[in-house]
Amino acid sequence: MTRPETLLAHAGCEPDAGTGAVVAPIHLSTTFERAPDGSYPHGFLYSRVDNPTRQLFERTLADLEGGEACAAFASGMAAAMALLLALRPGDHVVLADDAYYGVRRLMRELFDGWGLSWTEVDLTDPGALEAALRPETRLIWAESPSNPMLKITDLAAVARQARAAGAYLAVDSTWTTPLLQRPLDLGADVVIHSVTKYLAGHSDVLGGAIVARSGTGLFERVRAVQTTAGPVMDPLSAWLALRGMRSLAARLPMQCAHAHRLARFLEAHPRVTRVHYPGLPSHPGHAIARRQMQDFGAMLSFEVDGTAEDALAVAARTRVFTRATSLGGTESLIEHRASIEAPPTRTPPTLLRCSVGLEHIDDLLEDLSRALGD
Ligand SMILES: Cc1ncc(COP(=O)(O)O)c(C=O)c1O
Repeated sequence: MTRPETLLAHAGCEPDAGTGAVVAPIHLSTTFERAPDGSYPHGFLYSRVDNPTRQLFERTLADLEGGEACAAFASGMAAAMALLLALRPGDHVVLADDAYYGVRRLMRELFDGWGLSWTEVDLTDPGALEAALRPETRLIWAESPSNPMLKITDLAAVARQARAAGAYLAVDSTWTTPLLQRPLDLGADVVIHSVTKYLAGHSDVLGGAIVARSGTGLFERVRAVQTTAGPVMDPLSAWLALRGMRSLAARLPMQCAHAHRLARFLEAHPRVTRVHYPGLPSHPGHAIARRQMQDFGAMLSFEVDGTAEDALAVAARTRVFTRATSLGGTESLIEHRASIEAPPTRTPPTLLRCSVGLEHIDDLLEDLSRALGD
């Protein structure tokens, strides 16, 4: 099997048969010529249904995840929407209680009215999951590490519980990418990505994807939502995402190393009451993270001694970290999470979330040190 680093280095590089161009071109055409007999000799009909550039992105990500199929969407939330639309009214979803708040909001504000019911559960507690399962549970939606508390879920154990309950397990792998964690290998049925983050990697592309193992009827419905409802990834975004992915194996390990170093610094800081980073031995999910992840990721969050205003003041003093939402780019970002999530958020008001980038580690350390008042 070709290793992920090699697949990534070659992402979007399929020498063009006509020209020899090493990097695949962007196919912006929305429509494709039919042969005189009415057939489509190249297999493409109309770009909502399929597009060569989008298809190249989908094949690349499916290979990286060890999945059979991938559907690419206009954003991570469009992918989430497609997965929920693939369920049927009356189905029940178990949702990680610390999954990305946008997904919990999607469920609350849109899908509740369309006949889906859901229960938010701490998936790090197998007993709580067991208690939440119902005969009509069709989907368990996990995210590990979770957002923004970095809770670690034992994905192989949850996959076994899902199988026994006749439910699909979907894992949002945005924070890990296939380089750090491969949920399908751990027994999940579906992987969800916000391609916007580490995969594209430069804070300049919106995209989403669903990857599935072979033989899930659920994926056929996801594909139907993609091609008939049309929330597709556009060809330019697919091409930019492939370009970003070519350097993922160089970017992410350095970002993880920086995050680890910052987490250790913050843990020892007198103005910090808690650090949430699975690479720290003090993290309750450390042993599971060691087992199921290749590295601990480049996201961390920490709680500042004091009030929400004190946390906002720390973020206000940073000069290298940019105050902004999102994650996964080369630039470090810091965010007061509770104020972006808004009520009824469970995020502690003193929590700051960091997406750690590629700046010099000493600049990042000095920035946080100064922001904390050293
Ligand atoms: C874990 C996770 N999943 C999904 C999304 C949604 O992705 P997008 O912003 O591309 O719609 C995000 C966005 O922040 C995220 O962090």
